[in-house]
Amino acid sequence: MIIYKTAEEIRAMRESSEIVAKVLAELRAMIKPGLRTSELDECAEQRAREFRAKPAFKGYRGYPASLCISINEEIIHGIPSARTLREGDIVSLDFGVLYNGFYGDAARTFPVGTVSPLAQRLIAAAEQAFYKGAENMTEGKRVSDISAAIQQYVEAQGFSVIRQFVGHGIGHSLHEEPQVPNFGFPGRGPKIRKGLVLAIEPMIAAGDWDVEVQSDGWTAVTKDRSLAAHFEETVALTESGVEILSQAGGKAPGADLIKEQRYA
Ligand code: MF3
Ligand code: CO
Repeated sequence: MIIYKTAEEIRAMRESSEIVAKVLAELRAMIKPGLRTSELDECAEQRAREFRAKPAFKGYRGYPASLCISINEEIIHGIPSARTLREGDIVSLDFGVLYNGFYGDAARTFPVGTVSPLAQRLIAAAEQAFYKGAENMTEGKRVSDISAAIQQYVEAQGFSVIRQFVGHGIGHSLHEEPQVPNFGFPGRGPKIRKGLVLAIEPMIAAGDWDVEVQSDGWTAVTKDRSLAAHFEETVALTESGVEILSQAGGKAPGADLIKEQRYA
């Protein structure tokens, strides 16, 4: 069952999501070669607590940290450790909090120093794919219209879409219905209407989409060890259209945002 949110509930979710956005922006500023990934996790946890928010992932199905940190061929759910970032790596940070009874969830992939042209294109494609999906979150369309738009864009860039993990509804629970795959045929699944709040999160690979989970039971890597990128925002359909809750100011996506290049 999909739980649609009132305008007031969306206001509360905007607060949770903006905390996530602020913490991710702070973490981004820390990224440099030599940084231990556990330092990012400690910072995320501390900043969440300073915002009076609870890190959403710690303890979720036994996940041991506040932040997911996935490097290079790691797609998602990488566990922070003593591993250090290296020049040329790409690093995905996925963070969520519980605040005011509501979850916010977002992820971005960042370059560490100078990265290869392929890595730059992959990072940009994950972000653009998110916007292509979010543009389809309009009244009367169906959830799989979001999925199909993401897949079409990603594959046109020569990349592939991860199948084993999907986006999701979000609210009082971190994962609610509906599932939001990043692939599929348009015109299927539930109809989109006001009050729908989704975590839209394209996960893409430079090579094949097959996934392997490492022996830690969490870290998902591409089977062919090709580079992967992840971009996620918590998004709501409101009276004024699609709103990205997990960005300061909650901008609505449009042509201007599609052109925005934050990782060049
Ligand atoms: N953003 C991730 C998701 O939507 C959350 C990681 S789940 C955890 O599934 F188990 F790692 F915490
Ligand atoms: Co998510």
